[in-house]
Parts: sequence; C-alpha cells; structure tokens
Amino acid sequence: MKKVGLVGWRGMVGSVLMQRMKEERDFDLIDPTFFTTSQAGQSAPEYAANAGVLQDAFSLEALREMDIIVSCQGGDYTKQVYPGLRESGWNGYWIDAASALRMNDDAVIILDPVNRNVIDQSIDKGIRTFAGGNCTVSLMMLGLGGLFENNLVEWLSSMTYQAASGSGARHMRELISQMGAIRDHVAPELNDPASAILDIDRKVSEFMRSDQLPTDQWGVPLAGSLIPWIDTQLENGQSREEWKGQAETNKILGLSAGTIPVDGTCVRIGAMRCHSQAFTIKLKKDVDVSEIEQMLASHNQWVDLVPNDRDVTMNRLSPANITGTLNIGVGRVRKMNMGSKYLNVFSVGDQLLWGAAEPLRRMLRIALE
Ligand code: HSE
Repeated sequence: MKKVGLVGWRGMVGSVLMQRMKEERDFDLIDPTFFTTSQAGQSAPEYAANAGVLQDAFSLEALREMDIIVSCQGGDYTKQVYPGLRESGWNGYWIDAASALRMNDDAVIILDPVNRNVIDQSIDKGIRTFAGGNCTVSLMMLGLGGLFENNLVEWLSSMTYQAASGSGARHMRELISQMGAIRDHVAPELNDPASAILDIDRKVSEFMRSDQLPTDQWGVPLAGSLIPWIDTQLENGQSREEWKGQAETNKILGLSAGTIPVDGTCVRIGAMRCHSQAFTIKLKKDVDVSEIEQMLASHNQWVDLVPNDRDVTMNRLSPANITGTLNIGVGRVRKMNMGSKYLNVFSVGDQLLWGAAEPLRRMLRIALE
C-alpha cells in the first residue's frame, strides 16, 4: 500500500477531508502517516488503523518517506517545506489545498469531473504537484461544466455571495456572535408586537455602527450587512479573489491565460459554508434553454438542476438547503434581455466540500490508480 502523509488534518478543511475519507473508506486503501506541526509523538487518530504516532511536519526526512503527501496546513507551511522537499530529490505526489503552488507551471489545479484529461496528461508528463482550486472557481466550474465541455462560453461574469467559512472557523463563529448580539440588543422590542419597526431598525443600526458589535475577525459588521471585498487589493482594482476567476478557470481547462475572460465582484455575505454565484454568460452561439439545461444536468452527478420556478427555486436553490452536501444547485437558467446568446444562471455549493476537501481526496484516489 502507498504511504500517504496527511498534514493539517485537524483544521476545518482538514477535518472535512478526514470525514469524507472515512465515509468513502479511503483509509482502507492507504498506509497513512499523520503529521503535526506541534504534537509529534502523540497518538495518531483512532479512525486510521495502525497509523502509529504523529510525525513532525517539518521533518524532511519523515516527509521523504511518503509516496503521497496531502496538505491542508495552509500556504505558509507549503512555502516553508515544499521547495526543500523537492530540492532533496523527493518525487512523490504533493496534493495541496492551499493556493501557494496553484499557478506554478509545474502544478495542476485539480477538479477531476471537469479536467480529468488535463490531470492524466500531466501525470504522463511527470507532474507530481496538484493543488485544489479556489472554492468559488471550483464550484462555478462544476456547476457550469456542461457549458465548458461544449465550448459554449465566450465570456462570463460571476457576482458572488460567499460564505463565512471561506475566511475560516473563527470568522464563522464571529458571524453567529454578531447575529446573536444584534438580536439580543432589541429582544424586548421584538417581543412586544406593539413596538415600532423603525425604532427597532434605528436601534439595530446604531448598535451595528457602535464598538459593541464583535468585529475582531471581520473588522466590520457582516451580520445584517455584507462586505464587497474578499482577499487582498490588486493594482488593477480587482480583489485577488476576483483575479483568481479568470486565471484559474483557464488553467483548470488547460487553456492559455485569458482565453475565456472571467470577471465579476466577489462579495462576502452572512451564509455559513455555501458560496452562491449569479452568472451572466455570453454564449458562443444561440442554444435553446432546454438544451442548455440538459447539458448542465448531465455533465456530472452532483449538479442538481433546479427548474426556473419560484417555489422550487426558493426551496432548493439555497445555502440552507445545500449546505453539508456534495450537491451543486444550478438554477435560474434563462435567456437575458441583452439577447439570445446571454444566459442567466445561479449556483449554490458547499465551499468546504467541493470547494476544498473533495477534489483533494479524489486526486488521492487518482494517484493511487
Ligand atoms: N477565498 C475563498 C473565500 C475561500 O474567501 O471565500 C478559499 O477558496
């Protein structure tokens, strides 16, 4: 059995990955070693039989023993350990959730239901470095896979509604704390049916602008508000999250940079772990909506095509419905006023599953083939 090193398995993405690996019985197929940055020598988790004790994640000697390393430890760890490991001549598979190596020429972004051909060709060429994509991009490409496969996308704009989990566990906690604090602040008025809504609203607004709302993580209110900026600021006016849309989409498809223009505004909203996106897509040719729906629904088994009907959409196409599942809700499919080549689509997907953990464990399976 192949020796597989697991790093960062206790964090949020790592925990979701471990849960999925248990569900899919991946541990039956590997000889796992659990690495740690702080607790070497302690017992490995009991769900992986005979995994022994935790190994030092900074020990190149221990890492070099592995055939495959899967890291959810984050970009700083990757930058610290990966170059030296490769320089030492280690030629195993490095499968990484972080963005640090994603755009390297000798790394491939993994999303096998969309780019299995790119992954297979790269393995044949000797590439052994694989990085999960940005969550928004991966969820977009899985949802719209049928359009890309049929080479129908001339350009696309994605306006995102991104969940708190994309910023990490502490941010998720603070979102709920903000929600609770706002509610608690007006609890007596809420319980009194005779109170005036504009008084409640004024009190809420004043509270949100005060320093009483917990904002250590977000820096600003997210509950009852939104943040139209995700990640760092670039010279061209985009956020880094917006920049990733075009860069990663084309790389995932194995196209040269900028072949398919992708742009939009990335916005943080008060959802827990589902990223939603509203797409405007310029099609290369006029195709009937029914045919488009068929392409979207049949591209992969996770697309849940939701008919463009009000009640069905409200019930099915939401973070509340999709969270914690591998489903990618795809709906609101209709032609737009701009013309018959302009398509409207809305998607919802779990940012921790298909947006982070799932492509990694599927790449592990491919590496084991
Ligand atoms: N950058 C994403 C977000 C998550 O902040 O939502 C990681 O892909």
